[in-house]
Amino acid sequence: MALRTLDSLGDLSGRTVLIRCDFNVPVQDGRITDEGRIVASLPTLRALLEQGAKVVTMSHLGRPKGAPDPQYSLAPVAERLGELLGAEVAFAADTVGEDAQRVRIGLGEGQLALLENLRFDPRETSKDAAERASFAAELAAGADAFVSDGFGVVHREQASVFEIAQALPSAAGLLVERELGVLARLTESPERPYAVVLGGSKVSDKLGVIEHLLPRVDRLLIGGGMLFTFLDAQGYGVASSLLEEDQLERVRGYIADAEQRGIELLLPTDVVVAAAFAADAEHETVAADSIESSRFGADGIGLDIGPETASAFAEAIRGSRTVFWNGPMGVFEMEAFAAGTRAVAQALTEAEGLTVVGGGDSAAAVRQLGFDDAAFGHISTGGGASLEFLEGARLPGLEVLGW
Ligand code: 3PG
Repeated sequence: MALRTLDSLGDLSGRTVLIRCDFNVPVQDGRITDEGRIVASLPTLRALLEQGAKVVTMSHLGRPKGAPDPQYSLAPVAERLGELLGAEVAFAADTVGEDAQRVRIGLGEGQLALLENLRFDPRETSKDAAERASFAAELAAGADAFVSDGFGVVHREQASVFEIAQALPSAAGLLVERELGVLARLTESPERPYAVVLGGSKVSDKLGVIEHLLPRVDRLLIGGGMLFTFLDAQGYGVASSLLEEDQLERVRGYIADAEQRGIELLLPTDVVVAAAFAADAEHETVAADSIESSRFGADGIGLDIGPETASAFAEAIRGSRTVFWNGPMGVFEMEAFAAGTRAVAQALTEAEGLTVVGGGDSAAAVRQLGFDDAAFGHISTGGGASLEFLEGARLPGLEVLGW
């Protein structure tokens, strides 16, 4: 079966359409620090509004504990969405309560509302399918169709993603369609050489993707906090750097497997070691096999890849025809440890083939470091979702749309 797309829903003018977006954006002191996911949702919202639909958007933000919690309110998103669309966004202070009812009833054709955070209701993420179905039924009441456009949540079996798509005529939105089109190019027949760059803090978050990709890629580049488990697995001391001892055996297996398959596994040859995990910490660059000999001794913490590694990674990226990157190379939020991530981002903008930035931290990093979205082939809005897609995992939110 093929993915059901927007046109399968027919003429939506005058119909009430519920749409699941992923507006899970970083918010600091009530201010949105990366609006990429909101911007990515605009084409589908505009398409629905132009058809004259009455559009009710819904999303989660963060991981509240199943009850209202003001720090996770979607109110700042409603405001920004209105500015970006140049239209009023009616904000409901609940999801299935009186305020949501009031807002829905007040919607005219070509008008849009946003419900409060779905995860303020414990049924949204409940393990019990019947509880999720009861929440989905309440959300669906009064709506004519459901559009699934939160690509960042398609790996979640949650009420507003999975059960709701069974409760109403449903289809994927333009963002989900576009994400799948690009990610499928990575899994079906990528142009070669195909390089995957992985960073981020934990190897344990990337096991599935490493295992699935090892037989498929030509080059695997490892940076970020997880690199220290790779260095330790090779017998190098890592002082106080992040280390997942329980993954050492597995990582040794990956190194052996890569060698056997003739895959270029690029591990750092130098790293930036700091006296402490702090923006103003003293730091120095040392060879990857000499972290314990840095002037900080056993207290040294590796916080970025070194310049030699950064240029080797950049060269490998520029020489590849397909590149997927997920996870920063260092603590890019602190300027002293941002150089590795910046070099990798820069190299992606210079590579000639298809370049894809996995969502989450890497998407935030490229924007925070001042790169233009348009300089990359594609910046995915999915963090976990894009990784699970590449792992070949079951994605309930897509399955339910006929994928
Ligand atoms: C994400 O940020 O990857 C998505 O919004 C999913 O959020 P979750 O991991 O809290 O389900």
